[in-house]
Amino acid sequence: MKVLVLGSGGREHALCWKIAKSSKVSKIYCAPGNGGTAELAENMDINVDDIDKLLEFALENNIDLTVVGPEQPLVLGIVDRFQEEGLKIFGVNKECARLEGSKEFSKVFMEKYNIPTAKYKTFTDLEDAIEGIKEFSYPLVIKADGLCAGKGVVICHSEDEAKDTLKDILGNKIFGDEGNKVVIEEFLDGVETSLLCVVTKDKIVPMESAKDYKKIYDGDKGPNTGGVGCISPSPIFNEELSEKIEKNILNNIRYGLAKENLDFRGILFIGLMVVKGEPKVLEFNTRFGDPETEVLIPRLDSDIVELFEKTIDGTFMKSDLKWNNDRAMTVVLVSEGYPNEYEKGFKIINIDKVDNNTIVFHNGTKIVDKDLVTNGGRVLSVTSLGKTLDETIKNAYENVEKINFSNMYYRKDIGKI
Ligand code: AMP
Ligand code: GLY
Repeated sequence: MKVLVLGSGGREHALCWKIAKSSKVSKIYCAPGNGGTAELAENMDINVDDIDKLLEFALENNIDLTVVGPEQPLVLGIVDRFQEEGLKIFGVNKECARLEGSKEFSKVFMEKYNIPTAKYKTFTDLEDAIEGIKEFSYPLVIKADGLCAGKGVVICHSEDEAKDTLKDILGNKIFGDEGNKVVIEEFLDGVETSLLCVVTKDKIVPMESAKDYKKIYDGDKGPNTGGVGCISPSPIFNEELSEKIEKNILNNIRYGLAKENLDFRGILFIGLMVVKGEPKVLEFNTRFGDPETEVLIPRLDSDIVELFEKTIDGTFMKSDLKWNNDRAMTVVLVSEGYPNEYEKGFKIINIDKVDNNTIVFHNGTKIVDKDLVTNGGRVLSVTSLGKTLDETIKNAYENVEKINFSNMYYRKDIGKI
C-alpha cells in the first residue's frame, strides 16, 4: 500500500513511524513533513490546506490511504473531497470537524446531550458581550469560536482584561473571521487530562489516557503552549473516573452523534477537566493530539493501518486496540522564547546518541546541507518508555540531556507533577 500522511509535527512523525511498521505498507509520503519524517517517508512540498494539490497528488500517485494529522484540512472538508473521488482517507468529514472547528457548535452539542461542561454564553456583538460578562465571576474564559492555531482561548482574571480581550477579538478582529463569535465560559478549576477515542458508526472506544503539560514553565506556570510534555497513562486515571467518563460523557456523545446524524469516523480527542473527581469536557478535537500521539503510539501494539481501514469501513471493534504495558513519557525540547518569538536554524547534535528505550520524534526540524536544524517552536519530542513511572522519568531525562542545540529549553518536571 502507498500511504500519504498530512502534517509536519511530532504527531505526524509518530504516525509515519507506526505506519512504517505495518507489513501492508510499501511506501509512505508525508506532506509537507519534517526532518524526522524524511527518514521514513518521502516528503512532498504541499501544504495541508492546499486540498486541490493534495487531491491531484493522491490521484496521480495511486495513494491507497491518506491519513490526516492536523485539524485545518478536516475543517476545510478534505475528507469529503477525497471520498468524492473514491479515495480512502482517515479523518472526519467536514460536518463532524465542526465539533473542533466551532466552539459554539461543540458547546451546543454538549448542552443538548447533557455532556458535563462549563456554563457558557455565545456572543457576536461586542456591546452585548461586555454586558454578558456581568453574569460570570473571575477568572472567566473567553474563546474565539473558530480555529486560531491554539491561541484562541484567554483566561481573564479581571473585568478590564475581559473587556480588552473581547475588544481584541470582536472589535479588532485579531483572529479575523474565526473570531466573529465568542464563547464566554465559567472557569473550571481542576486537573486536566486528555482522552482520545476511536469513533466509528455506533462505537466510541477510548484509547489509553494521556496527560499533556500545556504551560511553558515548571510548576505549570507561564503561558499556554501546544503542549510541552506528555505522559501516558495519565496519573489521575483510575477505574472510577473511567466509569464516570463512560457513563456521563461517552454514552451521551454516542447518542448525540446518532441523533444529529453525524457519521463520525476518526479520532475524537476529548479535553477533560476533572473537578473534585467529576470529569467535565473542556473541548473536543477531531484528530490525534500533539504531543499525545508521541506517547500513545509507542504503547500501541495493533497494526495502525488495519485500525485506520476498519475505522473507515465501520468494522472496528474494541478488541482491535491492543496496548503494551509500558509507560511512556515525552519531553518536548523547544526553542527558547516559544510560545512567543524564537529563533530557528540552529544545528541539532547527538540526536543519534539516545538509548534503545527512547524514540526522538521531530516536531519542527528540517535538513539543510545534510545538517538537521531547528525549524519551529517545538523542535523534538523525546519519548522514553519504562516499566514504572520513576524509571520512565529517569530514562526520558537521561536521554534529553544527550541532545543539544542553541537556545534549547525544556521543562524539568514532566511526569513529576
Ligand atoms: P481549549 O482549546 O478549549 O481546550 O482551551 C485551551 C486550554 O485552555 C485548555 O487546555 C485549558 O487549559 C484552558 N481552558 C479552556 N477552557 C477552560 C475552562 N472553562 N476552565 C479552565 N481552563 C480552561
Ligand atoms: N495537545 C493538544 C492538542 O493537540 O490540541
